Amino acid sequence: MLNGSDILKGKKVILGVTGGIAAYKACLIVRSLVSKGAEVKVVMTPSALEFITPLTLATLSQNEVVVNTFPANQKNGVDLKTWHIDYGLWADLMIIAPATVNTVAKMRFGIADNALTTLVCALREKLLIAPAADMDMYNTPANMENLKVLEERGAYIVNAEEGFLASGLTGPGRMAEPSKIIDAAELLLSGYTKDFRNKRILVTAGPTYEDIDPVRYIGNRSSGKMGFAIARAAYLRGADVTVISGPSAETGYPEIDRITVRSAVEMKNAVESNFSENDILIMSAAVADYRPAEYSGHKIKKSEKLTSVELVENPDILASIKKRDGQHIVGFALETDDLDKNAKLKLEKKNLDMIVGNTIKDNGAGFEFDTNKITCYTKNNCVEFPLLSKFQTANNILAEIKKII
Ligand code: PMT
Repeated sequence: MLNGSDILKGKKVILGVTGGIAAYKACLIVRSLVSKGAEVKVVMTPSALEFITPLTLATLSQNEVVVNTFPANQKNGVDLKTWHIDYGLWADLMIIAPATVNTVAKMRFGIADNALTTLVCALREKLLIAPAADMDMYNTPANMENLKVLEERGAYIVNAEEGFLASGLTGPGRMAEPSKIIDAAELLLSGYTKDFRNKRILVTAGPTYEDIDPVRYIGNRSSGKMGFAIARAAYLRGADVTVISGPSAETGYPEIDRITVRSAVEMKNAVESNFSENDILIMSAAVADYRPAEYSGHKIKKSEKLTSVELVENPDILASIKKRDGQHIVGFALETDDLDKNAKLKLEKKNLDMIVGNTIKDNGAGFEFDTNKITCYTKNNCVEFPLLSKFQTANNILAEIKKII
């Protein structure tokens, strides 16, 4: 379903597909782009035809697929005579996925010997490259250097991941998952790039569960979506990211370290042990303020007539954490009433550099939704954002953090 806040809606995207086994994942990329409202045109190298047919990609993109620099269906070469220039001017973004070692090398040196590489030379707008190859080919110094040069020239590289490869080997070279490539496309189209390179960011996500007995707990409705969206956005913007998550079904990317905790006390211990290695702490977790005074090691029977649970206060993680010079702490405030007043109070009381306010009174905001509506408060400033996807919201939070670090 299209979401009004989707950055890809109405965007013109070219997908370049080259000849590697990961070409089969191009179908999922096209499908996802189209379902998010983008107009998609596909260009393939001759080698890509060995792995996937133009008919599949034409059907999914609802557009003709270009394979030949001089398309056979041109009327004597007249109608489409400068198609590469037209496409280059048309696109808001070109994604090359997968990008083989061969195509990466050609792009570095400006070689234009097929439809795809010719178009890359004519491209005016952003270029996103998702390389893929078997591990030794991927790691070959020429490929590493070529990717580095392309990145220095402004291309956005979604690095290949480690894992099981078509050859049977295990190592780096797997093309990034389509969902990560789509996230990176959204990030680029929002005007962001790897602006958090060399930063280490610690994010907390999800709820905490405070156990009563082995089967019952006190929890809250946090899904972890907001925290993991921040983690994914921060990673794609170049940061080293660790997530400390309460129980949550959400996932980050393979490169994001995850520490799983259950209770507020466990989360506090994990934050305390990891904060010193990080530059920024973003506490989006919904931490329980209270826990049962006693934990019963056995399942409490109905016959025991438990009619109330005595609670004791949990430690306030944010209020207790000490930062050194250069470190920054960002909290969240979830309110039902008086967001402005309460968020500003928490900003001061917890000695934060920034607090992100959200209220469940706004439709589509807060717990569980894929969207959120936030206001970022610093000591001297307050910036309000509309209802957006949690990924876009995460990018806006990072943009506000960027202003204060
Ligand atoms: O996970 P989702 O379903 O995507 O929902 C996202 C969210 C609604 C959980 C998120 O956007 C959010 O608002 N998180 C903070 C929720 C919360 O606990 O707010 P609070 O106002 O009670 O706490 C203020 C801040 O103090 C928070 O940063 C919290 O992490 C921190 N805190 C709270 C209690 C405690 N004992 N220690 C803390 O450090």
